[in-house]
Amino acid sequence: MANGKTVLVTGGAGYVGSHTVVELLEQNYNVISIDNLVNAYADSPTEKPESLKRIEKLTGKSITSYNIDIRCKDNLDKVFKTHKIDYVIHFAALKSVGESCAKPLQYYQNNISGSCVLFEVMSENNVKKLVFSSSATVYGTPQKLPLDENHPTGQGCTNPYGKTKFFVEEIMKDLCSSDSEWSAISLRYFNPVGAHESGLIGEDPSGIPNNLMPFIAQVAVGRRAKLSVYGSDYDTIDGTGVRDYIHVNDLAIGHVRALDKFCDNNFKGFKPYNLGTGKGLSVLQMVEAFKKASGKDIPYEIVDRRPGDIASCYADASLALKELNWSATKDVNAMCKDTWNWQSKNPNGYQTKTAN
Ligand code: NAD
Ligand code: WQD
Repeated sequence: MANGKTVLVTGGAGYVGSHTVVELLEQNYNVISIDNLVNAYADSPTEKPESLKRIEKLTGKSITSYNIDIRCKDNLDKVFKTHKIDYVIHFAALKSVGESCAKPLQYYQNNISGSCVLFEVMSENNVKKLVFSSSATVYGTPQKLPLDENHPTGQGCTNPYGKTKFFVEEIMKDLCSSDSEWSAISLRYFNPVGAHESGLIGEDPSGIPNNLMPFIAQVAVGRRAKLSVYGSDYDTIDGTGVRDYIHVNDLAIGHVRALDKFCDNNFKGFKPYNLGTGKGLSVLQMVEAFKKASGKDIPYEIVDRRPGDIASCYADASLALKELNWSATKDVNAMCKDTWNWQSKNPNGYQTKTAN
């Protein structure tokens, strides 16, 4: 079935971006990816990112790809002048919470200034339909659970990374108020995990993973000795932190459903949607599920709480069901099975040489 529309995907070579590109190609969208390779692997700075090469093999379709930075207005403008772009999905950002505390300006520069340059170029080229990668982190410490979209945002965002997501949402709101031709959907992801079931693409963090699932996967594959479980004295089912883990393929489909929303002529302005399963799982429940899926032991030790962590966080995802016709379909067993398939086939991620 021909869709034929063209989507510009910023950060298309990254984890969530690459899985969304597969889904877009399968729905017959034309895809143009922009990525500066700050967190994606390519054999050389001029080559197509490895994730996109693998997607071309997987889907038999081609992807137009530019290794450029969204902050470079001239380069970005050239892409908009070269192609007729219908929609933009904006993934490109730095995403490490810890690094953002150490290097706040780098995060504000990349994530906020980068978004402003992108929105400016979009406006100038009359492309005014945008889907943005936001995060449950905009809610700060939950005042009540599950979190719905009416929960206040920006209060208690304790780290610069989280603040960049909140600020960009505010910028999108102002932009939509200033110009009625603009429509912007902000997808607030909970905890994306898993990989494409082919095992060809997946999450490939550089250095020591900050997030739970890639850390567990690297313990299972023998790259790390043991998992540190950050705290066992939270008010949760077993004392460890509870999160709403969502399969990256479900997340990818959420982006396509968001684009569908732009076909509704009544849809205008800024709108946020939670993308989560609505179910919380503890760290130890995740360890157990991964053990079962991989058949590997996952040694762990309980250590102190990680500063800034909250006890529990999970979504009310009913608005996405009602308005985007989207809900998560893959359970924790699929999340762990697909992560293990990717990790065991690619123990060092996209690079063949041994990583740290
Ligand atoms: P990722 O690092 O794998 O992907 C981001 C991609 O953007 C990378 O390939 C990177 O090279 C590229 N990039 C960064 N800055 C750029 C710039 N200035 N110009 C061009 N390209 C640039 O991260 P991800 O996990 O795929 O996350 C995608 C988006 O989703 C990010 O905006 C992230 O903040 C958001 N998000 C991620 C999570 C998560 O846990 N993975 C949760 C909530 C929100
Ligand atoms: C999950 C649980 C940890 C690692 C972060 C960002 C958030 C979003 C997703 C982008 C917690 C515990 C973790 C480890 C552990 N990113 N844990 N040992 O903190 O919910 O969210 O990633 O937007 O903004 O803050 O995810 O995977 O880091 O942690 O015990 O080695 O696992 O304490 O309870 P988090 P996470």
